[in-house]
Amino acid sequence: MPLVAFAHILFHLYKKVSHQAPRILLTGGAGYIGSHTFVKLREAGIEPVILDNFANSHPAVVDRLAQITGAPVLLERGDVLDQPFVEDVLRRHAPAGVIHLAGDKAVGESVAQPLKYFRSNIGGAISLLQAMEAVYLPVGALGAPLLVFSSSATVYGDPATVPITEDFPRGHTDPYGHTKLVIEEMLDAVRAAQPAWRIGVLRYFNPAGAHPSALIGEDPNGTPANLMPYLTQVAIGRLPHLRVFGGDYPTPDGTGVRDYIHIQDLADGHVVALRALQRTGESFTVNLGTGRGYSVLDVVKAFVDATGRPVPYRIVDRRPGDVAQCYADPSRAKALLGWEARHTLEQMCADAWRWQQRNPQGYATGAA
Ligand code: WQD
Repeated sequence: MPLVAFAHILFHLYKKVSHQAPRILLTGGAGYIGSHTFVKLREAGIEPVILDNFANSHPAVVDRLAQITGAPVLLERGDVLDQPFVEDVLRRHAPAGVIHLAGDKAVGESVAQPLKYFRSNIGGAISLLQAMEAVYLPVGALGAPLLVFSSSATVYGDPATVPITEDFPRGHTDPYGHTKLVIEEMLDAVRAAQPAWRIGVLRYFNPAGAHPSALIGEDPNGTPANLMPYLTQVAIGRLPHLRVFGGDYPTPDGTGVRDYIHIQDLADGHVVALRALQRTGESFTVNLGTGRGYSVLDVVKAFVDATGRPVPYRIVDRRPGDVAQCYADPSRAKALLGWEARHTLEQMCADAWRWQQRNPQGYATGAA
């Protein structure tokens, strides 16, 4: 038996004997979804290793995570596109699996800069998958690779009906959604070629809200594209009013309907997905949504009710690429993983507002 393989076996025996918490590599772990998932992983007795280049996140998050969880954070600063770096990280930490969140995620930006998105999202996934192949699959190596992948409801394109189940046809209305679709198809091909892979694909609907401590939250670069951070910036006075993109959709009040899911529920979904893959070894694809659709004006009303803050708005033209309605049928996640969203829209609004109040300029200027 090669010396490397023997060393790996010894390392795993040591880990078992030393009761070290099992490690999980969390790419994009300093981002909005990554940071909240980090906290839930630690609470579940799992030791996350963050791999992040801070292109779409702030270094201050690392200190906030140490503050919330009471222990230093294992950080590997670098780009998931740097395959030798990723391979080295995997060999040094020997994680039980990988949760892959790193990537770009602004729909509008992806329309303007498609190549940036194809390179960062698809290129990043290829780099990670090949690094995992090299580290897990060889005989005597770490064993069957385990991956939880951050996908998106945008792979459904413009759904013919709602609510949406996982077997709905896939499409895309923008390059961002296209990258998620391509990566899902790549993962299907990898599993067909190497059945040892254990892969959980999570199709997020609309994440919103923040950790109750208000130490971590959503802090987009520049002017927010997403509704909730835009709302909180209007409420705190950083932006003059909310532009409601379209008042003539075929929806109850004419404005776009989406499935908003609390970031804490979404983060829980990652831990549950990881555990299911470890327990059964069976791959799956699930929607992570609440199963309820809310219009833009519903969200504005819920925000005002939850915070008492006025939100001036104007109804303007539709935003290119938007669909009228998109909300989940989350019953497969419930049946397969025993997971369901528990937080309300009002809690998302209250938690998002608390984050914005405590961090008026986001992470840049620290907590108020
Ligand atoms: C929600 C609703 C807008 C801003 C995208 C991605 C999805 C996920 C979330 C990454 C729509 C309306 C918004 C504003 C508005 N991204 N709106 N004024 O487009 O549903 O989803 O972001 O994981 O994958 O596709 O989210 O928050 O941009 O829009 O009226 O200033 O709010 O028209 O109806 P979206 P969103």
